[in-house]
Amino acid sequence: MALPPRIRTAVIPAAGQGTRMLPATKAVPKELLPILERPALQFIVDEALGAGVDHLVIVTSRSKPAIEQYFAASPEVEESLVKQGRGALAEQLRRYGNDVRISFAYQDAPRGLGHAVACARDFVGSEPFFVMLPDELMQDSRLLIDLATLTQKTGIGAVALKHMPKDELSRYGIVTPGGELQTSAGVEFLPIADVVEKPRNDEAPSDLAIIGRYALTPDIFDILEALAPGGTGEIQLTDALTIQAEQAPLHGVISTIGRCDVGNPLGWIEAVIEAGLDHPEFGQGLREWLREVL
Ligand code: G1P
Repeated sequence: MALPPRIRTAVIPAAGQGTRMLPATKAVPKELLPILERPALQFIVDEALGAGVDHLVIVTSRSKPAIEQYFAASPEVEESLVKQGRGALAEQLRRYGNDVRISFAYQDAPRGLGHAVACARDFVGSEPFFVMLPDELMQDSRLLIDLATLTQKTGIGAVALKHMPKDELSRYGIVTPGGELQTSAGVEFLPIADVVEKPRNDEAPSDLAIIGRYALTPDIFDILEALAPGGTGEIQLTDALTIQAEQAPLHGVISTIGRCDVGNPLGWIEAVIEAGLDHPEFGQGLREWLREVL
């Protein structure tokens, strides 16, 4: 069997209304809310670049033009930065949007994550691809690299998993393990027999939740397009994954990577504080201030 090609494309579903961050998201897409001076979306872009991605497909909504604007060239700003002697920042702005090919697909109605992924089909083509949910910021690119390594070696889709506390299971897709832990190409994985979207906490089949990183094979598109919307009127990616898993168990990589859910106010504050503590210029001052306040 020929090995599937390296994963070069990442789909980023970014059409949601961001209701958990209202009223700010009335005017600013949640993906552009800043974590210090960088928008959350830039963290996702950097994570993708770190895993070798060279094409981003951002699935957005026409009511969020600021997302496209963020990646557009800004020659006037760059020029005035150079005049002020801030060449490094000008260079950074020039890099954003130029160091990777970006395509925009549109999802103009909230019809679920599965529908958002299906909207990217024409841009993805017939190769495996990542899906990166921009609410979740990961410490680095390691998890994506593991998912890609596994999918490339096995030809089967892989999803990132994390053990979650019992009272949080109803917020996630939860998997039913289909066997013991195994290793392929140096990556440990769990076969997955089934996925259930947001079960009641006491009905979840395990404590293993899908966190927002997936390496998918392109046959998922036909499955998504054949799916009827579920009870909520949405097309769920988890339903398509379950259908795939019936053919051959999917693979799950159990992750311990540092992760923040910036789609809600508490997670966002945690991400800002973590980025602040790591910051070469502000880190020390922030640490002292936090000690004082606490
Ligand atoms: C989505 C998926 C869910 C997954 C979660 C991870 O849910 O549908 O399976 O566990 O992302 O964050 P959402 O958070 O978009 O409701």
